[in-house]
Amino acid sequence: MLEPSLLQPHVSLPLDFVRALELDKASLDVEARYKRCATPWQPHLKRTRAVILRSAHLTKKRRKAVIFGAGLLHDIPLAELSELFQTVVLVDVVHSRSCQIQASLFPNVSCLRADVTGTASFLIRARKTGAPLPPIEPDLFKDDESIDLTVSVNLLSQLGCAPAEFLRTSHTPGEIRAFQRHLIESHLTYLRQRPGHSALITDVAWSRRPAPHPQAPTQGRREVLHQVPMPPPDEAWDWLIAPAPESDPHHDLIAHVAAYSDWKESNRILAG
Ligand SMILES: C[S@@+](CC[C@H](N)C(=O)[O-])C[C@H]1O[C@@H](n2cnc3c(N)ncnc32)[C@H](O)[C@@H]1O
Repeated sequence: MLEPSLLQPHVSLPLDFVRALELDKASLDVEARYKRCATPWQPHLKRTRAVILRSAHLTKKRRKAVIFGAGLLHDIPLAELSELFQTVVLVDVVHSRSCQIQASLFPNVSCLRADVTGTASFLIRARKTGAPLPPIEPDLFKDDESIDLTVSVNLLSQLGCAPAEFLRTSHTPGEIRAFQRHLIESHLTYLRQRPGHSALITDVAWSRRPAPHPQAPTQGRREVLHQVPMPPPDEAWDWLIAPAPESDPHHDLIAHVAAYSDWKESNRILAG
């Protein structure tokens, strides 16, 4: 019998915020799609886990590992991380019940319900007043020098989605677009400033492909990082995120994923 308290995530985020932005609904939607698309998602999930493990092995010390976007756990090599690190923190705005149960099986793994963008403090007020959106500076784990690994897992492109929808009635499309871009840039800067080693896995664009023709070229590529410049990835792959007829009866939907097992080093290359 599992100790019920072990199944509660530690909280640094009010549930009101999660509900107001419908982040709980978004998480359920991803979980439902995962159940329908588990087989076509496997190559992507496997490659994501491999990148996380490769970055874990690049660390010099193995005290704390912090994994952002881990609330569904499909793409996280939990047992291996638990072996490698003294503690592992799974951070997300929502943790599925399955994630909480699996986490509770490892004494050194915990779930932390938190918003990596740090916008919870002002978004609800901004919608009420329509006030300009302030610059943000994510500060989660700000003074924690014991972190030796931080990984952002298939989360970056999502950061602006719920806030954009939430602010649709109070702010102009231009303000919202600028804010979405700012959320992405701030997360990338934050990852660069973490102590220890940082890694990033993210979709960068989506496109369609006529189904069922896996060899056909993809069409209609749409960038999803709001024109934020990215360095060349050390690995890239296609994620068959919505095979027909999941979101289109005649087309597969493909997410183009970029992986950086050493985000700080990739940025040094970009800086030149
Ligand atoms: C596409 S899912 C990532 C895939 C997931 N790792 C899996 O196992 O399938 C994006 C994750 O980011 C989380 N998320 C979205 N916005 C967030 C935020 N501001 N802070 C923390 N987590 C967030 C969502 O709850 C969701 O679990």
